[in-house]
This record gives sequence, C-alpha cells and structure tokens, in this order.
Amino acid sequence: MENKIKVGLIGLGTVGSGVYKTLQNFDNIEIVKIAVHNKKKKRNIENLDESIITDDAYEVVNDPQIQIIAELIGGTEPAFDLIKTAIKNGKHIVTANKELLAKHGEELFNFAQANNKVILYEAAIAGGIPLIMPVKTILAGNKINKIKAILNGTTNYILTKMDVLGASYNDVLAEAQDLGYAETNPTGDVEGFDAAYKITTLATISFGKRIKFENVYREGITKILPEDMKAANEMGYKIKLIASAELNDDGQADVRVHPMLVPKSKTLAHIDYVTNAVTLSGNPVGEVTLSGPGAGEFPTASSVVGDILAICSELGKSDYILPMMRCNHNEDAQMIDITETKNKYYLSIKAKNRMGVIGLIGTACGNNHISVESIVQKELKEDYAQITVITEICKEKSMLKLIEELENNDNIWGVNSLIRVWV
Ligand code: HSE
Repeated sequence: MENKIKVGLIGLGTVGSGVYKTLQNFDNIEIVKIAVHNKKKKRNIENLDESIITDDAYEVVNDPQIQIIAELIGGTEPAFDLIKTAIKNGKHIVTANKELLAKHGEELFNFAQANNKVILYEAAIAGGIPLIMPVKTILAGNKINKIKAILNGTTNYILTKMDVLGASYNDVLAEAQDLGYAETNPTGDVEGFDAAYKITTLATISFGKRIKFENVYREGITKILPEDMKAANEMGYKIKLIASAELNDDGQADVRVHPMLVPKSKTLAHIDYVTNAVTLSGNPVGEVTLSGPGAGEFPTASSVVGDILAICSELGKSDYILPMMRCNHNEDAQMIDITETKNKYYLSIKAKNRMGVIGLIGTACGNNHISVESIVQKELKEDYAQITVITEICKEKSMLKLIEELENNDNIWGVNSLIRVWV
C-alpha cells in the first residue's frame, strides 16, 4: 500500500527479530529493508520475506523510500556512521544502542537537530521499562536530583543467585553462561560498562546537563564474595550493582556504578534475577520507582516499536515532530571525582588472631576521622579473625588511607572487601 510508513531495520538478532514480529501487527507500517550480518543464518521468524534482506547496511540507510531506521546492532562502529548517513538522507532514527549514545550522544543529537530529525532510544536503557519518554514528557516539570537503579540484568541475576545459593561468583557466572544469561565474554556486564553507558544517558536527560561517560566511576561485581552476601544479609542488606547519579546543591553531578549494600527496606533490594528497576527522586513528584524486564526479545521490541509508532503518529502532520523528545540541553555537567565523595562503607578484614586487633582497627578508623557504626568478629580461628566493619559516612579519601594503613599493618592479613553502603 502506497501510504504505509516505510521502516528499515539494521540488525535481525534477538531485538531485531522481536521488532520484526511485533511490527507485523501494524497495518500502517511496512518493513521495506533489513540489514543482517550473515544472510545465510537460520532465523526463527515465520514468513520472513528473504527478498528484503541485505548484508549491506548502507543499502538500508541509502534507500530513498525509508522514513524511519531502527538501528539494532549495538557497538559504536559501524552504527555511528550508519546513523549519521541515515539522518543525512532524511530519516528519523530509533536505536537500542546504549554504548553509542553514552560515547557519541552529543554529536549525534546535534547532527539530528541540525537536520530536523529525531533519535529515539527508549530501548537503550532498561529494555522494556518505559523510562525515557516519561522522563522527557510527564516528568518534565520536575527537578530530578537523584537516581538509583539496577540497569543490568546479567549482574543482578548473578548476585541474586550468589545470595540464594551461597555460591561463589565464578560458579554462578559459569551457570549463567550455560543458560545464556551471561555472554561468553562477560566483561561488558560484570565490570559495569553496560550499566555505566545506561546511567550516563539517563542522568544526562534527567539532570538536563550532559554527563561525560569517561567521568562516570565504574566498579564491577567480580570481587564480591559469598561471605559478603552472608554478612550483608545478617545485617539487613542485599548486595546489588547500583547505577547512581546525584546532583548536589552546587549543581555538581556524582555519577557512578558500583556494588552497594542496599537496606532491605528499599525497593531495589528486592529486585531480583534479570529484572531492572529505577528509582528517581524529583521535585515536586517525590520518589518514583519503575521496574520491569531490562532485556529480552519482546520487552526490548516493545520499546523500539513504541518509539517507531511515536514517530509514525506525527509524520506528515508536523514539520517539527516530537519536540519534547529531542535533546534539550547543551551544557556539560560539572562532575565530582569519586575521591572527593563521602560514603558509608562495609569492610571485611582478615586479621591475625591476636589480642588488641579489634582495638587496633577502631583506633585506625578514629585516626582517619572515620566513625564506626558497627564492628563484628564473624569468625575466629587459631591463625585468623574475620572482622566486619560498617562505618558512618566519611570521606572516600579517608577510607583509602585507612585501607592502606590496615594493609601495611603486621596484625592484618588483608582487607578482603570494601563495598559502599546505600544511605
Ligand atoms: N546486557 C544487558 C543486561 C542487556 O544484562 O542487562 C542489554 O542492555
């Protein structure tokens, strides 16, 4: 039919397949071309029209009849150049590419604006959870100054399993890889890159100031021990990989991804397995938590298709579509380095079983201006004592100095874990 809106897909993997299948329900949309990496690959899609498949993505972005391109391949290249070429050719963009937005968002959004095109990316952050459109539209009247989120399903799955089974990180990772929840090379997820890409863009649109990805502090989950999980539970916490962003009173942004002890009184402590959740604090709304599936074929397709439909609904009716969904900030956020922050901490210390060791730890904390909230000897053997400390809020710099001092003390075998605590 002549008046159908013409869409091109780049990528027909898990997300692309979900988008293809979901778009079959919409009579006003026609997928006219799909770019794939390997044309011979067998795909689990009924009635797939092979004639529209190409292994040259430039055939899609250069096709004059296509009005909307959905980029679903991920990574920075060739996605960056494909999107720029598509915009130059007059197409609106829908993307699920969190890495590209975190690293090159500024250039892409400026380029899209200069060409009066939109880039929508609901699927890039927290998969199927409606987040970008709510923040940019119905929450637009708020001053959002705090975000705490679980944005990576793989790590949340691993931490949940470690908690439930009392198992080690490596054992659970191997099982998650067998089940397909974790990739063969899990670095992007387990070292926190994926969550860091997502919080970079989410904080940018929430604060209305650009966050630079390279200034986002990042720590993964690979050093979390089963004994940390156990100790956290006993003290009323769960360990989660938290992506957080906070604007202080001076307008400086503190954006980071690292494991945290989350009090069981908080909703995020109960977000388990692959589920994602985001708590936003804004004025006047207060605290809002959104949760749901952060990945997967159909949840992610839901967001991609929602974006496509939003564009379709205005095409031909306005020559400046979706103004609220465009990039509406151009100022860089002033960012605080992690070493300048204050935090509450959990430490797990392995000390020699000697008289005065608890006193020594307490004194070292005091000497570094660190107040101890609790100190518990979890285990005592002939040659060692396992001691857990929770501090009050103190400077990160003081904590680093304390760790150095403890590590250099003859009575201490080592500081096994240092995890920040949610306050
Ligand atoms: N790798 C991501 C996760 C999903 O584990 O949540 C895609 O963003």
